[in-house]
Amino acid sequence: MEAKEVDKAHVAVDDFDPKIVAFCCNYCAYAAADLAGSMRLSYPPNVKVIRLPCSGKVEITYLLRALEDGADGVMVAGCLEGDCHFMEGNYRAKRKVRHAKRLLEEIGFESGRVEMFNLSSAMAGRFAEIMEEMTERIRKLGPSPLRKG
Ligand code: FES
Repeated sequence: MEAKEVDKAHVAVDDFDPKIVAFCCNYCAYAAADLAGSMRLSYPPNVKVIRLPCSGKVEITYLLRALEDGADGVMVAGCLEGDCHFMEGNYRAKRKVRHAKRLLEEIGFESGRVEMFNLSSAMAGRFAEIMEEMTERIRKLGPSPLRKG
């Protein structure tokens, strides 16, 4: 019998269902998630969506706190570049995500656990793809070393 690969947190990788927190802009990603639901597009159910009025409202502390609270991955989804309803919000979000990644690298934490995506409210299919991509990426990284329980 072949032994299952086991990660740092002693969770068999095959059984690993990553917990992902997605901070989604109300005008694009959140609407795209809604549309994906209406279109019955399937995407991993392990993503906890948090609605923000604009991706620019996300704070670095939200991203770090989500990881600290046991999320295996955190993402921010904002409007397409140039389409933010508050002009520069998605650019601010992009800078904050980049900064959070740098902070994580400095402490030896995989920065790939945090990512920024851009999409429009009509991109329900892309929303489902992003959720798949992020889940697959985190599955490869394994459970967060901060994972509780
Ligand atoms: S309104 Fe969507 S990112 Fe600003």
